[in-house]
Amino acid sequence: MTTARNRIEVLHGVNLDVLERRDPSVYGGRSLTELERSIRGWGRELGLEVRFFQSNFEGEFVEHLHRLPEIADGALVNAGAWTHYSWAIRDALEIARVPAVEVHLSEVEAREEWRRVSVLEGLVLEKVHGEGAEGYRRALELLKRELEQGTGVG
Ligand code: DQA
Repeated sequence: MTTARNRIEVLHGVNLDVLERRDPSVYGGRSLTELERSIRGWGRELGLEVRFFQSNFEGEFVEHLHRLPEIADGALVNAGAWTHYSWAIRDALEIARVPAVEVHLSEVEAREEWRRVSVLEGLVLEKVHGEGAEGYRRALELLKRELEQGTGVG
């Protein structure tokens, strides 16, 4: 008997808990709770079991990444501004060794110069950005495909 590899951890980093208070022309105006509801629904359609985590504390985020191998088969990571400078978060994701997709609601490549840098480059299967909430659906599809066909190591 094989065990289904379908557990996806969706991690949101700094300032994403107050998503509804951020510029709606950039972030769409919806709350994190609403976004998570959509993601859960897309996950269900794809046969994925989705769980959520958010923190504004870098150390807490790192410790959650440390737990990933026990709790998840894949990860969807929107680390917010940490994406652009937290090498600690990069190291922690590397240690976790679970397939991961990086997601951003906004088009980070078309904004300020500093947002073009991602510490997760080379570690993630793909960087999805500029597609708003729909980007999370595509990220889940990418993870599903990886879990069905891939080696299981990100
Ligand atoms: C973000 C983009 C980051 O540059 C920013 O710091 C965020 C959100 C996004 O989802 O578009 O907090 O990750």
